[in-house]
Amino acid sequence: MTSSVRRSGPARRGRFITIEGPDGSGKTLQAERLHALAVVRGVPCVLTREPGGTWAGERIREILLGASSTNERISPRADALLFSAARAQLVAEVVEPALARGELVIDARHADSTLAYQGFGRGLDVDELRAIQHFATAGLVPDLTILLDLPVELGLARKASADENRFEVGFDLDFHRRVRDGYLALARREPGRWVVVDAARDPDAVHEAVVAAVARLEPRLAG
Ligand code: TYD
Repeated sequence: MTSSVRRSGPARRGRFITIEGPDGSGKTLQAERLHALAVVRGVPCVLTREPGGTWAGERIREILLGASSTNERISPRADALLFSAARAQLVAEVVEPALARGELVIDARHADSTLAYQGFGRGLDVDELRAIQHFATAGLVPDLTILLDLPVELGLARKASADENRFEVGFDLDFHRRVRDGYLALARREPGRWVVVDAARDPDAVHEAVVAAVARLEPRLAG
């Protein structure tokens, strides 16, 4: 028997948008441009990135992305747990409070990065990683995930060598191909949540496609 009692919840809950994609796909730029548009349109909005976005998350980021300069190797499982720990802190400290205030949250990378990089890329079991994500985020799932998709050679070539991180320096082309294919598989599995955008185009065209996708959830961004 189904209950007719409606669950009471916050009157207005914000929207949670994540931007995903391989290295060099332009997530940071597109997240910033989307955020700037939201500000201009008067939409209360929080912009963040992973790993990072909190005091603890930035410390974890230093460990994760600094490892290449000291030749340390971080095991895939430790990797997955560290990224997920940074995420748990961000969700609790930044994302959930902003959603409760009715704000738009834009996060450059989120749980799907762990599935793509540590799962498809480094070979950990994707279903086990899903369970870890459920725990880390207390079950929070993005309202919309935008995949900035492009050939891996193009993405890696876009990044200036000074800006390269551990994943770009220490992992081969096959790793990055598995990450890209993994993302596309995730998008096919949940077409209602994902929008795939061709990120090989110029940044203005990509921005337009991103805005069109987000405007379906936040009409103040349309037009
Ligand atoms: P960053 O310099 O922030 O790259 P980008 O601008 O492409 O996001 O480095 C983040 C790196 O960490 C990137 O190579 C992807 C990787 N990563 C994972 O492997 N797992 C994760 O869960 C997350 C969030 C990132």
